[in-house]
Amino acid sequence: MKMQWLQLLITTCFSLPVLFSKENPNSENYPTKYNKRVKRDWIWNHMFIFEEQIGPLPHYAGKLNSSTVKKNAKYAIQGEYANTVFKVDENNGDIYCFERLDREVKAEYSLTALLVDRNTNKTLEPPSNFIIKLIDINDNAPEFIQKAFNGSVPEMSKTGTLVTRVLAVDKDDPTIGGNAQVTYKITQGQEYFTVDNSGSIFTAIPNLDREKKDSYEVIVEARDSPHLNIGLTSTATVRITLIDINDNFPTFTQSQFIFNVPENLRVGGEVGKMKVEDIDEPQNRKTKYSFIKERFQEMFAVNPNIMTNEGNLILKKPLDYETTKEYRMNIEATDPSIDLRVAKQERPKSITEVIVNVLDVDEPPVFSKPYYLFQVSEDANINTVIDYVSAKDPDAASRGIRYSIRNVKDGPIKVMNNGNIVNTKMLDRETMAWHNLTIAAEEIDPSNPPIKKESLGLVFIKVLDVNDNAPEFAEPYAPRVCENSAHETVIIKISATDKDEMKPGMKFTYFSAKKENNFTVQDNQDSTATILVKYGDFNRDVAKFHYLPIVISDNGVPEQSSTNTLTITVCKCNEKGEYTFCEEPLKLTSVSVPTIIIILVCLFIIILVVSIFAILKRMQKKNTNILGKNTTEIHEQLVTYDEEGGGEMDTNSYDVSVLNSVRRNVTGPRHELETAPCLYAQVQKPMRNGDMSFMIEVKKDEADNDGEGLPYDTLHIFGYEGSESLVESLSSLESGSSSSDIDYDVLNNWGPRFKMLADLYGLEPIGDFPY
Ligand SMILES: *[C@@H]1O[C@H](CO)[C@@H](O)[C@H](O)[C@H]1NC(C)=O
Ligand SMILES: *[C@@H]1O[C@H](CO)[C@@H](O)[C@H](O)[C@H]1NC(C)=O
Ligand SMILES: *[C@@H]1O[C@H](CO)[C@@H](O)[C@H](O)[C@H]1NC(C)=O
Ligand SMILES: *[C@@H]1O[C@H](CO)[C@@H](O)[C@H](O)[C@H]1NC(C)=O
Ligand SMILES: *[C@@H]1O[C@H](CO)[C@@H](O)[C@H](O)[C@H]1NC(C)=O
Repeated sequence: MKMQWLQLLITTCFSLPVLFSKENPNSENYPTKYNKRVKRDWIWNHMFIFEEQIGPLPHYAGKLNSSTVKKNAKYAIQGEYANTVFKVDENNGDIYCFERLDREVKAEYSLTALLVDRNTNKTLEPPSNFIIKLIDINDNAPEFIQKAFNGSVPEMSKTGTLVTRVLAVDKDDPTIGGNAQVTYKITQGQEYFTVDNSGSIFTAIPNLDREKKDSYEVIVEARDSPHLNIGLTSTATVRITLIDINDNFPTFTQSQFIFNVPENLRVGGEVGKMKVEDIDEPQNRKTKYSFIKERFQEMFAVNPNIMTNEGNLILKKPLDYETTKEYRMNIEATDPSIDLRVAKQERPKSITEVIVNVLDVDEPPVFSKPYYLFQVSEDANINTVIDYVSAKDPDAASRGIRYSIRNVKDGPIKVMNNGNIVNTKMLDRETMAWHNLTIAAEEIDPSNPPIKKESLGLVFIKVLDVNDNAPEFAEPYAPRVCENSAHETVIIKISATDKDEMKPGMKFTYFSAKKENNFTVQDNQDSTATILVKYGDFNRDVAKFHYLPIVISDNGVPEQSSTNTLTITVCKCNEKGEYTFCEEPLKLTSVSVPTIIIILVCLFIIILVVSIFAILKRMQKKNTNILGKNTTEIHEQLVTYDEEGGGEMDTNSYDVSVLNSVRRNVTGPRHELETAPCLYAQVQKPMRNGDMSFMIEVKKDEADNDGEGLPYDTLHIFGYEGSESLVESLSSLESGSSSSDIDYDVLNNWGPRFKMLADLYGLEPIGDFPY
């Protein structure tokens, strides 16, 4: 161990009692002895100094010693705070601390010891690391992690219920004595709460009452060094709140509540509010209300208001001032959810008296029934009293009532002033089976202006059926039969309808109206009938149509029957019995919509073609104006006749003397005619009778030589033709309709080859038309 050059001689300014004094009370000698004996065991690279040392600086920390003794060697240190806080005496190796150090700031310092040549600064020995440790003293009080704590616990909790936890920490070294060991103590509020050494706070008494005091400020003290009684302390405030529980019964604020309510308060409306007091918090006010006498439950109910805890008195049935003017009842308020073991109150129930005064209100009339259902026979005479309605003024005034029908104007039903319902017209079930009326009842109010109080009632009047309609064919039948149909051939099955009510058991019966007949009407006994061929083999030459009157009767009271004629067409048939040729019966058949459209389209095309022709004609005329006159000139030549005269029999409107007068003025100027408003209408009194034939000759001559006269093809418009002429009308309107006189009857004689032609053109054989 020659090379062991350095030895740290550990000394302390104030000896460590625990470490050294006991073992080695002779502190003066021990370093040498110690070094020699247990050189290797000694923690030689640690030095210890106390933190926060009092006394003059510097404080001695320890000594460096090297076994190598060289003349020009010196001690030096490097590392944390070397040569600033820690300095070494280069000659003897003493290390001093030049500052008061705080273990809680830095607990140890790592340094390196060097032995260097004074002249060259070269290290003479390898450097050795050592640590200077600070020895803790109790210089820090425990600190609470929060300045203030909050805690809560339900009121009335058992003793020892955990409220909250507090925590304080001490910065001192926990390994040294009790420097960092914390204990707790309550210095304010210790009569209510306790704290254990872990910082948990518990209730100290069982009956903490929120309603008396709802929060506590508890001061907790934390102390260290519990064994020495000289520990450092700090305090924190803990705010402990009591959580409400439902432990208080509600109490009515008044011993009597009086409510004044109008009688027309709607059902479900509020009569009034009953206030109660419950010192628990709102969520713990669960007041239940009940009637002491159960009969009031029909009339009223109490709904607790969840927010305010008030009892809302609600109306369950309509009030009526005229029957009950006042209600007096006792209502109890209690809270069944309270656990009686925690309840503090002696009296668990609170009872109040409630008086409801009903106020009179002028109400509208009230009908005796919610609605009326009446019946009347449809054959009821005019002014029959069907039934009556009645409404009353519910008020004490009991005013008269006036009735009127609201929904129907000028109907067959009227309501009289006394409420009687009367029919003013005959009723017909088949046009209106129900008369549903809204009848207004209005109070007759003598005050001025009258307060119109009215209400509406419903009246349903059912018109009862009377058998007043005869049955008819169910549909317009158009049966056909083959020419050569055999005896008993079924032609058609018919049925009937009746506008009257079809009562169960209603049946129609059928029979032929004529005894002698070519057909059999077979009543099937089930409201239908079958038409059969009676003899067979029809002759189309004799009759193409057969008319079969059938009487249909119902079995109602009174019995109704009608005669309906069935038109049976006789058709040609082939061997298979299929119809090959049938005439349509002469009657107005309904025309289907497509047919009408086709007809209209055809008409339109015709009009179009005619118009095109007319336009083409006009264009042609324009181009080839034969007369060499313009169109206006031609127009001027159109003469309008207001009146033609009454024909031969009419001697009033036409006078022959006109002609005579013309003859008289043979040599008269022509322009006279032009000035006349209407050429032939000009009437002149006859002067004398002359030779008519001569006059006509003159006229003819005039006309022949008259270049400016009207051409013979001038268009004439006749306004009035006259009447009662033996000669037929001159009008061209009917001239085209004259039927041809050609007798086609001969076709019948030409044999079967021309039978079809004969059928089409020949005289129609007279059928068995009944009328
Ligand atoms: C240092 O150690 C040597 C032996 O290694 C010893 O002789 C000497 O006395 C010591 N110095 C001090 C001051 O203790
Ligand atoms: C040795 O070191 C000291 C301190 O660092 C310095 O003042 C001195 O000049 C140095 N001497 C030599 C010879 O380098
Ligand atoms: C404690 O409660 C008070 C009041 O409610 C609040 O202001 C405070 O911030 C709370 N403190 C903590 C630490 O929760
Ligand atoms: C009249 O009332 C009856 C019975 O409610 C109903 O069957 C009928 O359809 C109603 N008639 C009319 C026209 O409202
Ligand atoms: C039966 O039909 C024939 C023609 O086929 C006719 O002449 C005769 O009058 C009809 N009888 C009656 C009762 O209609």
